[in-house]
Amino acid sequence: MVVTTYSAEETLEFGAKLAGRITAGDNLFLSGELGAGKTTMLQGLGRGLGIEGNIISPTFQLVRKYYLKDGREFAHIDLYRLDTVEDILRIGWRDITESSRIVAVEWADKAKEIWPDKGQSSQGKSYIINMSVAGKKTRKIELTELL
Ligand SMILES: Nc1ncnc2c1ncn2[C@@H]1O[C@H](COP(=O)(O)OP(=O)(O)OP(=O)(O)O)[C@@H](O)[C@H]1O
Ligand SMILES: [Mg+2]
Repeated sequence: MVVTTYSAEETLEFGAKLAGRITAGDNLFLSGELGAGKTTMLQGLGRGLGIEGNIISPTFQLVRKYYLKDGREFAHIDLYRLDTVEDILRIGWRDITESSRIVAVEWADKAKEIWPDKGQSSQGKSYIINMSVAGKKTRKIELTELL
C-alpha cells in the first residue's frame, strides 16, 4: 500500500487508522530519513490506540513502554543512536519484538538482519513502513507486510 500525505495532520490520521488494523504481537518497522514523519505517524498510532498524552521519541531512552486501557502493551523503540546489531540486541530486542506487545521501531532498517522470521519468532505480523520526504509538506508512506 502506498499513501501520500500532504500535512502532518494527514500522517497522524494515517497512523490513527492503522491502529485499528493491528493486533497484539504485531511489529511495525519504520524507516526513512530525518523528518520523514516516523514519530508523527506513531503519534497518530498512539492516538488510535487510545494512549493519552504524547508519544515522544525515545531517542535517548531507546525504548518507551505504554499500557493501553484494553490491557495490551505498546513499545516504541528508536534505533537512531545505535549502529551495530550487538547494540540493538542488548536493549532486549528479541524479548520485545517476540512479545505480545504492539511494537513500533524507528530506524528499523538498522535491525534488518534481526527482524523476526514470519510465523516463527514473532507472536504477530510484522509490517515494513518506509517513509520519505516528497516535498515540504508531502510525505510518501509505503506499507508492506513482512513475509
Ligand atoms: N505530510 C507530513 N507528514 C508528517 N510530517 C510532516 C508532514 N509535513 C510536514 N511534516 C513535518 O515534518 C516533521 C516530521 O518529523 P518527525 O519527527 O515525525 O520525523 P521522524 O521521521 O520521526 O524524524 P527523526 O528521524 O528525526 O526521528 C514534523 O516537523 C512535521 O510537522
Ligand atoms: Mg522520530
